[in-house]
Amino acid sequence: MAQVGVIDRLSQSLKSIGYWVDVRFPIGKMWREHMAEYYAPKNFNFWYYFGSLALVVLVLQIVTGIFLTMNYKPSAADAFASVEYIMRDVPWGWLIRYMHAVGASFFFITVYLHMFRGLMYGSYRRPRELVWILGMFIYLALMAEAFMGYLLPWGQMSYWGAQVIVSLFGAIPVIGDGLSEWIRGDYYISDITLNRFFSFHVIAVPLILLALVVMHILALHEVGSLNPDGVEIKKKKGPDGIPLDGIPFHPYYTVKDIVGVAVFAMAFCAIVFFAPEFFGMFLEHANFEPADPLKTPDHIAPVWYFTPFYAILRAIPNKLGGVVLMGMAIVMLFLLPWLDRSPVRSIRYKGLIFKIALTIFAISFVMLGYLGLQPATPTFVMFARVCTFLYFGFFIFMPFYSRWDKTKPVPDRVTFHHE
Ligand code: HEM
Repeated sequence: MAQVGVIDRLSQSLKSIGYWVDVRFPIGKMWREHMAEYYAPKNFNFWYYFGSLALVVLVLQIVTGIFLTMNYKPSAADAFASVEYIMRDVPWGWLIRYMHAVGASFFFITVYLHMFRGLMYGSYRRPRELVWILGMFIYLALMAEAFMGYLLPWGQMSYWGAQVIVSLFGAIPVIGDGLSEWIRGDYYISDITLNRFFSFHVIAVPLILLALVVMHILALHEVGSLNPDGVEIKKKKGPDGIPLDGIPFHPYYTVKDIVGVAVFAMAFCAIVFFAPEFFGMFLEHANFEPADPLKTPDHIAPVWYFTPFYAILRAIPNKLGGVVLMGMAIVMLFLLPWLDRSPVRSIRYKGLIFKIALTIFAISFVMLGYLGLQPATPTFVMFARVCTFLYFGFFIFMPFYSRWDKTKPVPDRVTFHHE
């Protein structure tokens, strides 16, 4: 009995602290607006796990990054050795480092799947254009973050990868050479470059990423989530003003997302513990050798998540042309909300042309990723040209085929089957 009294008193004090805070800071209001009274469509499927998973990976990267920074030394003389020190001597250092390195690849896996969901269900369409655009800025920031992070271990691939990418800016007429020198802060990739990449990787870009993610979610909650049917749930509300097909995000989707996180954690641990280099895909073999400005590796390839764009770059014989096309490959994604003219949003109600176009697009993107990892032999370059054409074709012809495509009637309410 005495115990119940203690618990009662404790919960009473917690409540009064909560009340004290609530009248001074809108924590309860925020909780209700974004969790307990945020009505999400009841028909979310597998593809809707990846937004919350991306959030989990973001936190994981920040936390493991903080611990890595405690022992990492951002100088050309010490960087490589400090990473080895983390791997061998720092208690649990190997785990933190592998989690961070594998986490980078998992970040891109989740983000690519998250974007693919957007393509399938037309999540980028009006009124969610800004959610998509902010997502694209997140994607760009993520690429910058990963690129600069890869220089930090100061291995051979760190060094030469950065060398290749920074020199691409040199292809820009007139300002190119000056620009790449300005980025490096030196005439070649040096200690100075390493220092500034460290500062960007550790603080500047993560801050930008966090701000963008907050904006991304605020923009989404302003218009509300879409769903696999592409039906706007806000159009059918009950007498209480709540969408008939909406359910409170908390507890329904918090519970669902925990399942996603558990499965994700299993896959993540399997890689971290059994194949952290992932056969040279997550940590490239050449990066186990310290950077040597006098020795170019035989084969320089970026990490897998950049290779589709690298393959597009190499598909064009002219360097400037390659750089421009690579940039255009990203610009096309930004323009997506205005290229799709279909009267329906979701692939469920789109016609055969869209289904074929999306399949070809996905295959060509994966193929480009593969080709970007291979040496630029004439056969591979020829394949890369075909895939580049297919990649751009998806976007350029979209205003036409999305209008010609035969669509199916969209239901009034979301479809939902108990499984
Ligand atoms: C750090 C990376 C990212 C995080 C943490 C993140 C987070 C989220 C979350 C939590 C949601 C709501 C849940 C869901 O629909 O899955 C969401 C929705 C969405 N995200 Fe992201 N996102 C990220 C990157 C991106 C990128 C790169 C894009 C596309 C370029 C994107 C486009 C979208 C769209 C269009 C929606 C709305 C989906 C709908 O309402 O159907 N996101 N995001």
